[in-house]
Amino acid sequence: MNTKLVQSDEKGIQQAVELLQQGEVVAIPTETVYGLAANALDGKAVEKIFAAKGRPQDNPLIVHIDSMEMWKTLVDPLPPEAVQLAQAFWPGPLTIILRHKGTAAPEVCGGLDTIAVRMPSHPIAKEIIAKSGLPLAAPSANLSGSPSPTEAKYVWQDMQGRIPLVVDGGSCQVGVESTVVSLAEESLVLLRPGYITKEQMEQILGKPVKVAGAVTRMLEQGETALSPGMKYKHYAPNAEITILKGDADQYRNYINQHKEEGVAALCFEEDCRDLSVPVVVYGKEKDFDSQARELFSALRHLDEMGAKKVYARCPEVHGVALAVYNRLLRAAAFRVVEL
Ligand code: TXA
Ligand code: MG
Repeated sequence: MNTKLVQSDEKGIQQAVELLQQGEVVAIPTETVYGLAANALDGKAVEKIFAAKGRPQDNPLIVHIDSMEMWKTLVDPLPPEAVQLAQAFWPGPLTIILRHKGTAAPEVCGGLDTIAVRMPSHPIAKEIIAKSGLPLAAPSANLSGSPSPTEAKYVWQDMQGRIPLVVDGGSCQVGVESTVVSLAEESLVLLRPGYITKEQMEQILGKPVKVAGAVTRMLEQGETALSPGMKYKHYAPNAEITILKGDADQYRNYINQHKEEGVAALCFEEDCRDLSVPVVVYGKEKDFDSQARELFSALRHLDEMGAKKVYARCPEVHGVALAVYNRLLRAAAFRVVEL
């Protein structure tokens, strides 16, 4: 298949809308990461997403909407807490899971009785949803298992020849995928941390939000994944990543002692000096937003450099940094060394 890369101007958006209405898959920018979009009401169109990504069929997709009315066509009833969260954080990087009413294609929900929905804030994503008039199922626009793309060139690398169109909307502002919260059970559960934090949601709701155990550790044997995505390999570059837990001095000493051909450092801007191996930076130590914005492109960059073994400085585990830690932990296949 011939893949076109177009600007997000009127013409590019029009092409995207037409292809989506014809049941094709189009990569579009969102504020979190690029998404691989198709009409969520059309099972054949949705199947093409799974094929393009090489994604396991039981891993459900997030549906992107542009209005509360569109949400109501997918979910019934809307519990008050869901509405409160939507009013506080939509449009934006929050995905809400509720029981569905069977209107979306079953392929979207991976056989579950629930559906994940979010209203993105990116102007191009909003315009494409509005002009097509369709709820759009869209996972991250990477090959299954690879780092999520935050720039059109990375979508192109993964999707060239697999989909007809990529819409270039520049770099994604947030850089990690949306927060995923489930309201389908009695208590609220955070399934995937993101830019909207547990603390922010608790403040709006005035009650605790549980964090699924698998957010910060490997699924245990026999443990059911609350979110099917938790079972699968994620965000992994070719290089083998190890997270080093310790302060800047311990980090520097460890790397300088383990220096060899193919070793690289993945660290904060402040750590760069006095490291004797090639360095890729992902944000500033105290600026969690910058870490989120830069992490996925840093992982891609390490592969472009040909790094074989990467030692990563460990992020913190609260606020937006929890999302960064959650992604990096998976990129590192849970390899962590305490210094
Ligand atoms: O920011 C984002 O959310 C991006 C952009 C494109 O919007 N999309 C994204 O989609 O990250 P994806 O497919 O890469 O991640 C969706 C996650 C998966 O881990 C999946 O298992 C989980 O959400 N999920 C979707 N529907 C679910 C459901 N009904 N129950 C539990 N988990 C669900
Ligand atoms: Mg993904």
